[in-house]
Amino acid sequence: MSFYTPSSNISNLPTCSETALMYSQKLQTVICEEIAATDGWISFARYMELALYHPGLGYYNGGAAKLGAGGDFVTAPEISALFGYALAKQIKQISEQVVKHRGQADILEIGAGSGKLARDMLHELEHNDCLPQHYYILEVSAELRERQQQFLTEQVPHLMTRVIWLEGLPEQFCGTILANEVIDAMPVHLVEWQGADVLERGIVWQESNRTFSWKNRPVTDDALKVIAGNLTQQINPQHDPDFRYCSEINRAAGYFIRGLAGILQQGAVILIDYGFGRSEYYHPQRNQGTLMCHYRHHAHDDPFYLPGLQDITSHVDFSALYDAAEEVGLPLMGYTTQAHFLLNCGITEILTRTPVETAQNYLPLANQLQKLVSPAEMGELFKVIAFGKALDLPLYGFVSGDKSRML
Ligand SMILES: C[S@@+](CC[C@H](N)C(=O)[O-])C[C@H]1O[C@@H](n2cnc3c(N)ncnc32)[C@H](O)[C@@H]1O
Repeated sequence: MSFYTPSSNISNLPTCSETALMYSQKLQTVICEEIAATDGWISFARYMELALYHPGLGYYNGGAAKLGAGGDFVTAPEISALFGYALAKQIKQISEQVVKHRGQADILEIGAGSGKLARDMLHELEHNDCLPQHYYILEVSAELRERQQQFLTEQVPHLMTRVIWLEGLPEQFCGTILANEVIDAMPVHLVEWQGADVLERGIVWQESNRTFSWKNRPVTDDALKVIAGNLTQQINPQHDPDFRYCSEINRAAGYFIRGLAGILQQGAVILIDYGFGRSEYYHPQRNQGTLMCHYRHHAHDDPFYLPGLQDITSHVDFSALYDAAEEVGLPLMGYTTQAHFLLNCGITEILTRTPVETAQNYLPLANQLQKLVSPAEMGELFKVIAFGKALDLPLYGFVSGDKSRML
């Protein structure tokens, strides 16, 4: 996702069509009804789930463009095919080892967006004579799934017998499981530390001015209480009674890792997203958390703005992913920045396949590479973490730039 200076000022955002507004209002009504049916309060995680994934009205299920220049945000596969080509090198290494033992290796992409990453990796793997037996896609959005089907049928018609959309995780899997910018799109709980109290931020409806607003209440969910309690020592070590701090807890990410660990027989899980290890995530200066909204390439911090028409995300706490994997015995294979990962996977050599002399081809690609690896753009903020099972090789992507001490 490309970054813009966040601004809490939503008055200068582009306007939307009457039809889009009507859909957003319908979704607001759905959310209001749920709030009314649950004692006047819902958690922020539930609000985010409805705003992003309500069937038909949620952001990821609505008809708007979402990804790319005509949408709300840009991801690495939207910026450049080089991203998928470099990832393919990592996947090839994993697949070769899996094939040795199992006879075949598959790919499972979670949250495939427009389908561009699938196309690019399939092209590159075909070029390297290392096509997966199956390229599975698990996509929560029915609307994006349709777009992926259309896009891949146009772009890689000869490979479509290998591409299979799943309704849920398979029972067993051998090969590479991949998710780019999926965990940041999972609904998060908002927790507020106020002195010795730990409260959950939720949403109420204010009939007087017909808006959503925030309301805290004590954390009641046991699992959330334990996670928030464990963070308290780090967040408010002095037990300062005047202390105020708000941040996110992504419980869904933990369930996600446990689910993947349960199906992986041999191979690796590679997760790419923006975020940090716990000490940076819950840093004293990040006392308003990392929640961010994207609407037509403008970033702001108001999740109540046009629900269903804008993306809502939070950064990823990679230490939480590591802990969840540890708990279920899924070993860490590497953790590094996107820049290191892509460079380790030979992205610059891939660029040099395009002759410098053909400036009209080479220059745009060189610019794209710069966006993917520059520390000022996606190179540092985005991280890559990999977990593995029954793999006895150092993964190419992590041979230099190890950051696992930050987990
Ligand atoms: C920010 S987009 C990223 C899309 C794509 N991976 C890319 O990099 O361009 C998030 C994607 O994850 C999907 N998604 C979110 N949560 C999911 C889940 N639990 N299972 C499957 N897909 C999910 C969304 O529908 C969307 O396709």
